[in-house]
Amino acid sequence: MKPTFTLLTALLLAPLAMLHAADIAVSSLDLKLAANSTGYRATANSSNVGKPITLGGVNYANGLGSHSRFRLAIDCHGMAKRFTATVGVNDAGSKQYDNVVFRVEGDGKKLWMSPVMKVGDAPLPIDVDLTGVNQLVLWLRCGELPGGGADGPGDWANATITYEGEAPVAVDSVLPRKILTPPEALTPRINGARVYGARPGNPFLFYVPVTGARPMKVTASGLPNGLILDSASGIITGTTPAAGTYEVKLTATNARGSDTRELQIVSGETLALTPPMGFNSWNGFSRKVTQEIMLTQAEAMASSGLRDHGYAYVNIDDFWEVQNKADWDVKLHGAERDEQGRINSNARFPDMPGLTAAIHKLGLKAGIYSTPGPTTCGGCVGSWQHEEKDAQRFSDWGFDYLKYDWCSYNTVVQGKYEDKPYAMKPYAQMGELLRKQKRDIVYSLCQYGMANVWEWAAEVGGNTWRTTHDIGDSWGSMAGIGFKQGGHEAFVKPGCWNDPDMMVAGNMGYRNTNLDDDEQYTHVSLWSLLAAPLLLGCDMRQMDEFTHNVLCNDEVIEVNQDPLGRMASRIATHGETQVWAKPMSDGSMAVGLFNLGDETVSVSTTWNELKLTGPQQVRDLWRQKDLGKQAGGFTADIPRHGCMLIRLFLAKQ
Ligand code: GLA
Repeated sequence: MKPTFTLLTALLLAPLAMLHAADIAVSSLDLKLAANSTGYRATANSSNVGKPITLGGVNYANGLGSHSRFRLAIDCHGMAKRFTATVGVNDAGSKQYDNVVFRVEGDGKKLWMSPVMKVGDAPLPIDVDLTGVNQLVLWLRCGELPGGGADGPGDWANATITYEGEAPVAVDSVLPRKILTPPEALTPRINGARVYGARPGNPFLFYVPVTGARPMKVTASGLPNGLILDSASGIITGTTPAAGTYEVKLTATNARGSDTRELQIVSGETLALTPPMGFNSWNGFSRKVTQEIMLTQAEAMASSGLRDHGYAYVNIDDFWEVQNKADWDVKLHGAERDEQGRINSNARFPDMPGLTAAIHKLGLKAGIYSTPGPTTCGGCVGSWQHEEKDAQRFSDWGFDYLKYDWCSYNTVVQGKYEDKPYAMKPYAQMGELLRKQKRDIVYSLCQYGMANVWEWAAEVGGNTWRTTHDIGDSWGSMAGIGFKQGGHEAFVKPGCWNDPDMMVAGNMGYRNTNLDDDEQYTHVSLWSLLAAPLLLGCDMRQMDEFTHNVLCNDEVIEVNQDPLGRMASRIATHGETQVWAKPMSDGSMAVGLFNLGDETVSVSTTWNELKLTGPQQVRDLWRQKDLGKQAGGFTADIPRHGCMLIRLFLAKQ
């Protein structure tokens, strides 16, 4: 048999041996099959920004234009020989923001990868051997540098595959989404904060977040006098009772079962006993925000189920105020203040009290934005010299949260940014005014970390303090900010939260985030460990399955909302991997294993470095799965820019 088989094989292979090498331009493949960032598509023989392929002043007639999150998979049938190209960022890109990484993979393994490239960098030649490769993948990412934008036209000039036999073809290049959170149970589960702070005598509003099949009935025992729970809606309203701690037992019941949980209502000075969770309009809607958008976002927070995981604040950012300078939208024009000096909203927000009432009716809270300067960062009217009137106005309108953004303050009061009394003054003034209102108004300081704001934010009544300039939806920005937060642990406690800025997961209003799935898990895990406010920047009307999964994992949110209120510390850095740990109120420890590098690596931690003694039960929080007892440590393979979030409980010996 053997000689016959060998002969047959030889006969079959003979035609191949006679094949001649041929070249195929990647630009001639079916580029419709490429995966792209929303709003972009791979282009043949031109850049992705509608310009010729021009790298370092040289024009290339042939090639491929690509943009952020481009991925093209090509079936080479194991018959390709080489891939060659010259890559770089198109000369038409932004010198200031654009930064791009090119990568070539063969059957899942890295064959070539560029360093981060910017406009003007010398183009790089690629020449890789494809012998034996079945699937070739070309991919590009933008925004890998901290502070950089998430865009950038990356060109693959003269991209060519040399092959013998069957010609390579493009195949569907969209990767399946990585959904880790198990589907929500139909049985009731009470979620969100276990402790809630409110001020005596002020209006009280709290929605009990519960997942499970509807209809759902929520009941409470131990609710103090003055508070009423509406069983059908799950909304508690009334007047906050006298100072004290009230232990309330909540029960949620549906046709399939019931769940019970303690809620501690702490009537006292301190608000935001757990990090605020909600939405802010800036990342998704920036200058285009309207009352209608805010209302529909609030409705979507309820209908999408986000509300049932604890998301509660619906915050308007800049551009609700009048802006007479801009001539691009007359709807922003108008009288800045009324005859009594009270600030006016612009015509896009015709009825502020109506808006907050509609938000409150859903059991949600409303937030607003201003600046101690004369104009906001967007050039709208600020609170300068009208602070008292504005605090009163925000309260009268029914707002529950104020983001107070430094913006133009330094144009009217000069000083050194690092001078604490200078930096504190306007925040102390507004803090005092908010405290005088007959409403609970959470106070969010936004001055980008000047004068070590974390050291004094609590002193001026601040509940949260931004530590950096604005976040963008790129790995460079998100990771650049998130992994720099270590060192502020001593200042974080219930009512005082370090704010590395808003979330950049999900659909950002005009396109999907540029963070890939692993990067979004890293983002939410890190913000949860950091006990950071979870303020979504995505359009909640457009929640896909992945976004819901990454924003609504109750075991992950529980890390963020833990009543102990500790912020995680970086425990170890090994090469491009990091371990962060957050002590939890029940004595357990939440631990994040992160891979900031470009290749999958094994990341380890030991109970020793976490200062834990005895064997630990390990729980995988994203998958909500027990991983068993481990004697001295834990190791996992973590993909590029990905993470593993675990919780460790002391195990019985
Ligand atoms: C600043 C803030 C942002 C946003 C804008 C609005 O840049 O940091 O979060 O509020 O202003 O103009």
